[in-house]
Amino acid sequence: MKTVPSQYDQIARETFLPQIGKIVEIADMTAKDRYFRIELEKPLGHGPGQFVMVSVLGLGEAPISISNGPSEDNILEMVIRRIGRLTQAIHELKVGDQLGIRGPYGSGFNLDDFYSHDVLFVAGGLGLVPLRSLITPIIKERGRFGNITLISGCRNPAEELYRDQLETWTTDAGMDVIRLVDGTENMPWEFGTGLVTDPIPKLEMDPKKTMAALCGPPVMYKFVIKALNVRGMNFDQIFVDLERRMKCGVGKCGHCQINKIYCCQDGPVFRFSDLSGIPEALQ
Ligand SMILES: Cc1cc2nc3c(=O)[nH]c(=O)nc-3n(C[C@H](O)[C@H](O)[C@H](O)COP(=O)(O)OP(=O)(O)OC[C@H]3O[C@@H](n4cnc5c(N)ncnc54)[C@H](O)[C@@H]3O)c2cc1C
Ligand code: FES
Repeated sequence: MKTVPSQYDQIARETFLPQIGKIVEIADMTAKDRYFRIELEKPLGHGPGQFVMVSVLGLGEAPISISNGPSEDNILEMVIRRIGRLTQAIHELKVGDQLGIRGPYGSGFNLDDFYSHDVLFVAGGLGLVPLRSLITPIIKERGRFGNITLISGCRNPAEELYRDQLETWTTDAGMDVIRLVDGTENMPWEFGTGLVTDPIPKLEMDPKKTMAALCGPPVMYKFVIKALNVRGMNFDQIFVDLERRMKCGVGKCGHCQINKIYCCQDGPVFRFSDLSGIPEALQ
């Protein structure tokens, strides 16, 4: 007997069936972080701060941030840290190999929140990857924003991501880029040492005119938010990009639930004032 696909089959297919992405470029960014440029069958149509679910057939899926800015082409850029089984398998792929890509998912940054403001980005480690998807469109429309500052921190010089991009953002895009490491560990380094919170008290900024976007390890958020608050910024001027373990990516499985919010759908980007009463969000 022939079965007719139900509307639920159709919804499931549209939600969970990945498109095929072909790897067209790979570059080592650090010893454990690898850049992948993927050519998709059709454009993603993503916004800044969104993520995709990336799969390797027979192994599984992982949520990965989209690192390129919104565009109409069929290119996806991402940086993947080798941390476990799946990310190890992705690191073993070569140019020409394929990946499953579904998405884009999540609620990201809205450019309207940033127009006409000074913008402060604070990135810790891998946090620069999703923030790049917001920095890129802001630079494209540079004239519609005031001062743009990026504080980017990582453990040591060898762990810094997007080095060339940090240079061009400084020289060509009129951005004030503050590059920090926790320690140089005897490696050559011409920039600063310290935590990403260190420059905040001395930043030349008008707190009432500034919007901030933060992405980094959970421990970073509390201290950065406190430092910005001391400078006079309110919680509704601060956006945070949160990470949680995820399975479905579309609000069905509950893996990413924090109290009453689903990180995969309500986030991963949140206006910090919307997280009041949910202290576990920053843990
Ligand atoms: C919205 C979102 C965006 C992400 N963007 C990126 C990205 O751009 N680049 C990137 O490299 N990674 C990103 N991650 C993390 C990435 O999804 C995990 O590293 C990946 O799922 C690990 O899979 P694995 O099978 O290699 O490791 P596993 O074997 O699953 O895990 C290895 C170790 O990492 C821990 N771990 C795995 N996932 C997470 C997590 N989400 N939070 C905390 N600890 C975790 C595990 O507990 C375990 O100790 C993102 C996660 C989320 C939720
Ligand atoms: S990952 Fe399944 S509900 Fe968010």
